[in-house]
Amino acid sequence: MTDRLKNKVAIVTGAASGIGAASARLFASEGASVALADRDHEKMDEIVREINDAGGTAIGIGTDVGNEASIQRMVEQTVEEFGKLHIMYANAGISGRFDLETVNAEDFDKVMHVNLRGPFLCSKYAVPKIADSGGGSVIFTASELALVGSPGASVYSASKAGLIGMARGLALDFADANIRFNCICPGAVDTPMLWGEEKGERDAIEADISSRMPLGRVGKPEEIARSALYLASDDSSFVTGHALVVDGGWTVR
Ligand SMILES: NC(=O)c1ccc[n+]([C@@H]2O[C@H](COP(=O)([O-])OP(=O)(O)OC[C@H]3O[C@@H](n4cnc5c(N)ncnc54)[C@H](O)[C@@H]3O)[C@@H](O)[C@H]2O)c1
Repeated sequence: MTDRLKNKVAIVTGAASGIGAASARLFASEGASVALADRDHEKMDEIVREINDAGGTAIGIGTDVGNEASIQRMVEQTVEEFGKLHIMYANAGISGRFDLETVNAEDFDKVMHVNLRGPFLCSKYAVPKIADSGGGSVIFTASELALVGSPGASVYSASKAGLIGMARGLALDFADANIRFNCICPGAVDTPMLWGEEKGERDAIEADISSRMPLGRVGKPEEIARSALYLASDDSSFVTGHALVVDGGWTVR
């Protein structure tokens, strides 16, 4: 532990699992007070207990990032509890593969609601609090699929590419307030989202991805969390409007 987030307050959405859980643990171990936000209360509370038992400071706030009032409450509750806010890691997202012939507007809206509108509203409510706290960092989890195509993933790709555009715009809007906006573009990472409904075939899928991955394996949630720590901390104090690709070399091909 190097206290890189000492005296900082962070919100991490999607913190009950995968990349969000790993980031909440890492932020707390680096000294931040962390509000974990997720719609899965049970799993979220487990991570909160684990962090507090390890000597960190964490609270859990049941949140649906598809719902504006819920996001507003998440930010207000965090500031009521910790008094400040410096880091908004809008990480929660859902996957979705659709055929253009059968996809309907509701499917499209659902993905956009969680993956793009959610981080937009997290920014809207967090930014005034971060500004009041003297500035800070907003991070979005985009995806390698914001940069390259994948069959059936057009809607998901559009939602994640939208985050990169949004981060660039907001980076300019809030540079004067000392608030930086950046994206992380993970490649295939070992979380429940990657394996999805096809869990039974996990070994075959992992072998297939690994054989095509320049670094020869899928990523670990902790490897994305370390990138989030970089963007959250002063180590990246001159970095804004950036999309940091952390994908084992997938998009280099
Ligand atoms: N795993 C990968 O290979 C991969 C690759 C690129 C990008 N991503 C992105 O990383 C982010 C984190 O995904 P992960 O891989 O850790 O998946 P995950 O399934 O392990 O975790 C996602 C978490 O988000 C929560 N969540 C989903 N919808 C929510 C909502 N409406 N409100 C609140 N919480 C919600 C879930 O309950 C879950 O805890 C996502 O934005 C995802 O699109 C993942």
